[in-house]
Amino acid sequence: MLRRNFLSGLGVSISASLLAPKNLLAGTKTPVNKEYTIAPGDWTALRDLFPLTKKYIQLSTFLLSSHPKPVSDAIEMHRRGLDENPADYWHNRFKTIENDIAEVAAEYIGGKPNNIALTDSTTMGLAMVYNGLKLAPADEILQTVHDHYSTDMSLAHRAHRTGAVVRRIALYDNPAKVNTADVINQLKAGINKKTRVVATTWVHSSTGVKLPIRAMADTIKAINKARSTDQQILFCVDGVHGFGIEDIDITTLGCDFFIAGTHKWLFGPRGTGIIWGSDRAWASIEPVIPSFSASYEVWLGNTTQEHVPIGEHMSPGGFHSFEHRWALPEAFKLHLQLGKANVQKRIHQLNSLTKAGLAKMSHVTLYTPESSEFSSGLVCFDVAGMSAENVVSKLHKKGIIMSNTPYRTSYARFAPSLINNEQEIESALAEIRALA
Ligand SMILES: Cc1ncc(COP(=O)(O)O)c(C=O)c1O
Repeated sequence: MLRRNFLSGLGVSISASLLAPKNLLAGTKTPVNKEYTIAPGDWTALRDLFPLTKKYIQLSTFLLSSHPKPVSDAIEMHRRGLDENPADYWHNRFKTIENDIAEVAAEYIGGKPNNIALTDSTTMGLAMVYNGLKLAPADEILQTVHDHYSTDMSLAHRAHRTGAVVRRIALYDNPAKVNTADVINQLKAGINKKTRVVATTWVHSSTGVKLPIRAMADTIKAINKARSTDQQILFCVDGVHGFGIEDIDITTLGCDFFIAGTHKWLFGPRGTGIIWGSDRAWASIEPVIPSFSASYEVWLGNTTQEHVPIGEHMSPGGFHSFEHRWALPEAFKLHLQLGKANVQKRIHQLNSLTKAGLAKMSHVTLYTPESSEFSSGLVCFDVAGMSAENVVSKLHKKGIIMSNTPYRTSYARFAPSLINNEQEIESALAEIRALA
């Protein structure tokens, strides 16, 4: 059942405390935002939608998105509505708007809208999934040494509370030479009879490596085939640095949970994210933060849990910065307008140009694989005799914004995105060349 049908299909009136007067509910669909038409492949027109300063070459926009015009207009529209009349503005939208967001998200990502939960960040999504896991003290969670702090700590918190054990394995030793056969062998060797969860990251922000998720999912599926229902392994993926780049349909990736912030590559409002889960996956975890909307009706005694769409039930409740959350569809629509295949092609093209340039410099070590099969939008490197922090700081003085990886071993990180062009890449490469 669609979320929007849920409340209208209840045949009961919603609690007075949650409802606006009837006259305010008539014709209350969110007004359509002004359209910005960008021809697929017109990257200059896309760049002009961003207020990003042109004083710098921006090669770190993946950290936190600048809002493109359609997104900032929608935020402004909702902000104004909420500031003018918060209770009515919220009452007039809360029943349907999250369903509308999930529908556009599903159009972009694939799968069913009801399988999508809305969050505030990748970190919140990871925490919701990992802290909702049903685990017994002897159970094991297998993760990798390549994961982000947010995965490590979400799993550590869950292990601490349940007595389950977290084990970490390396899927590759030399990131630049990663290959599917080695990853699968390492994965198989890491799984044992007690493994209930495999937690991993699609594109590593530590090295730029993109894992072969489909092949890993197939391996786990084959192992699950020989196991009873209560021994099944759940395959969870932090997908944030492939999301908004790679042209995939989530249902073909093969994982059980896919977690991503939408405020990085997708250009969504800051403070937004999603969790997609298969039916089997959602059935295997418990909610952590109570959801509002339809789940509230269960508490009120107006319906029963099985009538609440699962994605909605798993979306953390409480009041949010709604002007940001409700503007999220504009980011999905912009990406759909650009075309998922075009987006992937452009980001891979700029990244390949970057890697080809760095590979020619004898004072540079490139850690990210050159092939787009094993990389996406992040390029990690270092310069002989210089710390990553120092490289980033020297480039900043030349008007180039990069970042260094926030990991125990830190590299400089060059992240060409849709807002960059070939001249900017060449200028940045020239400055790195001059560091010799
Ligand atoms: C792989 C990975 N996962 C999670 C995060 C945290 O993302 P968020 O800021 O959306 O919580 C980051 C940070 O950039 C990251 O690199």
